[in-house]
Amino acid sequence: MLINTQLGFLGSLNDIRNIWSGYAKGWGDRWSPWRPSSGDIDIYQTLAGEKLSGRVLLFGATPELRDLIAQNGGNIVLIDICPEMVGAATKFLRYSNPKNETWIIADWCEMPFFSDYFDLVIGDFMWWLLSVPRQKILRDQIARILKPGRNFVSRVHFCDLVRADQNIEEIIKTNLLRLHRDNSNRPQLREMIIAKIVDATADFNTKRLNIKKHKNSYSRI
Ligand SMILES: C[S@@+](CC[C@H](N)C(=O)[O-])C[C@H]1O[C@@H](n2cnc3c(N)ncnc32)[C@H](O)[C@@H]1O
Repeated sequence: MLINTQLGFLGSLNDIRNIWSGYAKGWGDRWSPWRPSSGDIDIYQTLAGEKLSGRVLLFGATPELRDLIAQNGGNIVLIDICPEMVGAATKFLRYSNPKNETWIIADWCEMPFFSDYFDLVIGDFMWWLLSVPRQKILRDQIARILKPGRNFVSRVHFCDLVRADQNIEEIIKTNLLRLHRDNSNRPQLREMIIAKIVDATADFNTKRLNIKKHKNSYSRI
């Protein structure tokens, strides 16, 4: 696991909760890459395979993954720090019935589970939401709660070093033209621009995202 090359987040648990309860309000207007695309879900199906039908721990409340697990007959336990996000994501379920799911509202690093308990641990775009030291804690917890020979499957965001020196004004200017030209694909284009800005505003020295800086940048889109 390339821990040193991933960026990390260092806010308090309260900061994390507040940030996500903010995101919960507009979750319906978030698209790939922040939410998994149907192509990403196909890859999850391939990588997780028959373990999706076992006892599955989901990091976060990703509706697309809850539906995938339910479609495979799996037993869903999800752990998420933000009840507002769980509520918002639940509105987008198509197959999974919340009555058949177990919800744990807690920080991922405080996992109340026995050892050798899960057939699969899965989480989408969640690794960079933890500081590097907490990534190590979570790694050891995942290894402990998985049954021997079972899998952890996750989509990971690697910040593109090439973008580290890109000028944000330039990113916005060049892509705004595309945005205005192509109305049919507006939300996806907007999300792609935001992804570029996230990489361009990341602090590669401290290995952290700069949420304030990238939010200020893309609030103009
Ligand atoms: C899974 S991640 C990334 C979003 C993902 N791409 C999706 O489409 O669901 C986001 C979720 O993780 C939760 N979360 C973030 N940091 C957390 C932490 N330290 N412990 C528990 N839940 C956390 C947030 O509340 C949010 O619901």
